[in-house]
Amino acid sequence: MPHTLDSLEHLIVERDGAVAIVTVNRPKVLNALSTASLDELRRTALALKHDPAVRAVVITGAGEKSFVAGADINELSVQSPTGGREHALRGQHVFDLIENMGKPVIAAINGYALGGGCELAMACTLRIAADTAKLGQPEINLGIVPGYAGTQRLARLIGRGRALEWLLSGDQMTAQEAYRLGLVNRVVAAADVLPESRKLAAMLATKAPIAVRYIIEAVNKGLQMSFADGQVFEATLFGLVASTEDMREGTSAFLEKRKAEFKGR
Ligand code: COA
Repeated sequence: MPHTLDSLEHLIVERDGAVAIVTVNRPKVLNALSTASLDELRRTALALKHDPAVRAVVITGAGEKSFVAGADINELSVQSPTGGREHALRGQHVFDLIENMGKPVIAAINGYALGGGCELAMACTLRIAADTAKLGQPEINLGIVPGYAGTQRLARLIGRGRALEWLLSGDQMTAQEAYRLGLVNRVVAAADVLPESRKLAAMLATKAPIAVRYIIEAVNKGLQMSFADGQVFEATLFGLVASTEDMREGTSAFLEKRKAEFKGR
């Protein structure tokens, strides 16, 4: 098996129908991401990407206090310049895999999402935050810069001026503030964050998987292209879905006034 989920130490991966729930499980350090846990996230993202039975994913943190409180500062404190560069590239690669998993990944932000935790949430497709959650990029307060693409994704999500303010102050924002800025999609009561995320994932899991994959790809890749190139890319995907059974099923179901059953073919 190329992407096995055996022997995970820092993550719990569960299945509920077509939804996979991934819990970062290092509550003693508020689920801070060590190199080992990042590597487990990489293996998990690949395994879930290639499992056709999984149509949506929820990522959350163990315990009630924290989603992920950043990269593991014990490791950061002793890193070398070349080691630091490799570390950042590795983290960026893992979060790119999550961003481009080709199925909706929902961050259920149950508490602190700081540094690498905020970067992980931003790599997800959608974000639901507990009203008690705190988000931010506090790296500046450690005398470092974000390394898992926080400078890039935050600016794209909330705009350059606002991103610079949060990146330079290192302040923690409330869930409401994050909602106002467009950093999270929804804010719910803390007790509802996981149930709501699972519900949203289950709903998205009923959509046509190939169209879902192409929409995520069109948005993610399109943002890195010119508008004109993005339109050509979109038109190509629009044409490509015409080859799917799901396109025939979706359009026939509408015309026959029944609910579509999508198969991912
Ligand atoms: N790396 C390693 N350990 C971490 C950690 C991290 N990113 N974040 C928290 N921890 C550890 C703490 O060292 C502490 O360990 P201890 O019990 O052995 O002392 C434990 O988790 C609990 O954290 P604590 O700071 O006591 O909780 P708190 O409620 O007082 O504060 C935070 C919570 C999230 C505000 C605080 O832990 C914090 O600022 N963490 C670092 C956030 C950060 O800078 N992340 C970016 C890293 S690049």
